[in-house]
Amino acid sequence: MSNRRIATIPGDGIGVDVTTAAVEVIDAVVPGIEWTEFDWSCENYLRTGAMMPADGPEQLAGFDAIFLGAVGFPGVPDHISLWGLLIPLRRAFGQYVNLRPVRLLPGTESALRDRTADDLDILIVRENSEGEYSEIGGTHNPGRPDEFVLQESVFTRVGCERIMRYAFERAAERGGRLCSATKSNGLIHSMPYWDDVFDRIATEYPGVRTRHMHVDALAAEIVLHPDRLDVIVGSNLFGDILSDLAAAVTGGLGLAPSGNINPDRGVPSMFEAVHGSAPDIAGQGIANPVAQILAGAMMLEHLGEHAAAAAVDRAVCEILAEGRIRTPDLGGTSTTEELRTAIAERAAEVAHLATA
Ligand code: NAI
Ligand code: MG
Repeated sequence: MSNRRIATIPGDGIGVDVTTAAVEVIDAVVPGIEWTEFDWSCENYLRTGAMMPADGPEQLAGFDAIFLGAVGFPGVPDHISLWGLLIPLRRAFGQYVNLRPVRLLPGTESALRDRTADDLDILIVRENSEGEYSEIGGTHNPGRPDEFVLQESVFTRVGCERIMRYAFERAAERGGRLCSATKSNGLIHSMPYWDDVFDRIATEYPGVRTRHMHVDALAAEIVLHPDRLDVIVGSNLFGDILSDLAAAVTGGLGLAPSGNINPDRGVPSMFEAVHGSAPDIAGQGIANPVAQILAGAMMLEHLGEHAAAAAVDRAVCEILAEGRIRTPDLGGTSTTEELRTAIAERAAEVAHLATA
C-alpha cells in the first residue's frame, strides 16, 4: 500500500504510547505509508488555548484516514478535550457510524470465564453524530434556588435511517441477527421514534432477525447471554455505555478498538481505541497497545488492505494465545514495548507467509 497518507493524532497520556506501538505494527505489514503527526492535545490547549487550530478539519481533509490515540488529561476539563477535538472531527467528516467490535480474544480472561471466543463476538454500531450528545440546552437562573439545566436530544430521520441501514447491512453479512437498544418506557419521545424507524428499515431486510431491548436489560444480556447477541445498534449515549460495558466483559479496555466511519468515503474516517488517556498509568510504559493495534487493523480493512488487516489480527490473537507477553492489565509484567515488538514481528512473519 504505497502512497497512502494517514494523519496521526497521538494526543495525551497513553494515547502517545499506544499510537507509536500501532504505527510500528502497521509499518511491519504495509510498507510505504506516509504518516503525518499532529500534536493536538491537552498540552497544546494549555499552550495555545485550543485543542486544535480552527482550520484543523481542513488540515486533515486530504488524508486517507485519521489515526487517533486519546485526548483528555487532568488539568483540562473533559468537555474541552471532547468538544474541542473529538466531536468536531467526527462531525466535520460526517463519521456517523461508531463501530465497536467486541470479541473475547484467544488467551485472554473474560469476566465470564467459562465463555470461549465462539460465545462472545458482538459488533456494536453506535450512532455517532447526534442523539443525546447535543449542544442544545443551557443553565437557567444560575445561583438562584430555582436554578435548572436543560439538555436536549436530537434524533433526525436522516440520522436514524442511515445508522439503522448500516447496522442491518453488517447484520446481513454476519450472523443475521440485530438487536436495537431502546428505552421507550423512559424516554417517551425520542425512543419510540427510534423504534419506529428501526421497524420500518427492518422491512427492507427480511433476512435479518430483529429484536428491541431496553438498554438496561440489554446491558444485563451482554453479561449473562453474550452468545444470543450478534450486532447491536444504539444511539450515541446508549452505544457509548454498552461498548464500555462490553469491553469490560472481555479482557478490559486495553483490548477494545473502535472506528468512526463515514461509509460514503471521500473524507477520512477516524480510528481509535475505546479507552482514554489513562492518566493513572501514563508515562509508565505499561499501557496495553492491543486496542490501538486492532483499531489499526480496522483502518487497514477500511482502506481495502484486507490481507494486511488479517495479518495484524492474526498476530494479535497468536501472541495473546501464547500468553508469554502480557501487560499488567492482562495479569502479566510485560511493557508496552515488549508486547508491541512481539506483535509487529509476528505480523511481519504472517504477512510474509501470506505473500510468499
Ligand atoms: P481511560 O480509558 O483512560 O481509563 C480507564 C481505566 O482503564 C484506567 O484505570 C486505565 O488505567 C485503564 N486503561 C485504559 N486503557 C488502558 C490500556 N490501553 N492499557 C491498560 N490499562 C488501560 O478512562 P478515564 O480514566 O475515564 O479517562 C481518562 C481521560 O481520557 C479523560 O480525560 C477522558 O476524557 C479521556 N478519554 C478520551 C477518550 C478519547 O480520546 N476517545 C475516550 C475516553 C476517555
Ligand atoms: Mg466511551
